[in-house]
Amino acid sequence: MRPPDSELALRVWDPFVRVFHWSLVSCVILNFFVVDDGETLHQFVGYTASGLVVARLVWGFVGSEYARFANFFPTPVRLRAHLAAIRAGRHDFQPGHNPLGALMMLALMTLVLALGLTGFLQTTDLFWGEEWLEELHAGLATTLIALAGIHAAAAIVIGRLERVNLVGAMITGIKRTRNGRVDVR
Ligand code: HEM
Ligand code: HEM
Repeated sequence: MRPPDSELALRVWDPFVRVFHWSLVSCVILNFFVVDDGETLHQFVGYTASGLVVARLVWGFVGSEYARFANFFPTPVRLRAHLAAIRAGRHDFQPGHNPLGALMMLALMTLVLALGLTGFLQTTDLFWGEEWLEELHAGLATTLIALAGIHAAAAIVIGRLERVNLVGAMITGIKRTRNGRVDVR
């Protein structure tokens, strides 16, 4: 058994996951602010974001242990157990994604793919100039930025609550915690 205040350090995020994450963040933020009428740069960056997500989906099957969907997919059983732990005021150390974080991650990736699709459709003869499609694309982009804001804030707050370097781990790949379990009183 570990001594009570020992530090646990785990290598959780492989280089692919880390490069994927920060590249995706850069693409999304860049495309949100640089629209240039949906011209070359916007399209290139948007398709790059979609490509990153597709590569991440593949990595979810062949990547390292904590990158695999099998490790963190938010099944109803995992979600119920996680919510019960939160209600009981318990914050167990989670080496990989916690189920709510995983749900958010899937939502963010789905929105990026939906932006790629609605962006592409706007460039086709069939849908060119369709206002509803432009509005859908804009709505998806606003939703993505809003959810990403909540996601980033949650990563910072939960990291503090559980005394785990969540954001640092997405940079170095290593998660550190004390005791392996934190009871919030
Ligand atoms: C447009 C903005 C963002 C998007 C689209 C995004 C998307 C994602 C995705 C898809 C993942 C899952 C990573 C994987 O397993 O491959 C993730 C995880 C994560 N993101 Fe972001 N992210 C964004 C911004 C941020 C920012 C600004 C921060 C820092 C404050 C951040 C911190 C994290 C952390 C700490 C994790 C891992 C959470 C855990 O330990 O379970 N993200 N993000
Ligand atoms: C991360 C992915 C993307 C994000 C965050 C994003 C975001 C945005 C935003 C915020 C706008 C402005 C909406 C408004 O009028 O208020 C926009 C417009 C547009 N986007 Fe994207 N987009 C993405 C991907 C794409 C892709 C892949 C394409 C096409 C291949 C594309 C094509 C367009 C076009 C044609 C417009 C219309 C420009 C105009 O109103 O003149 N987008 N996008």
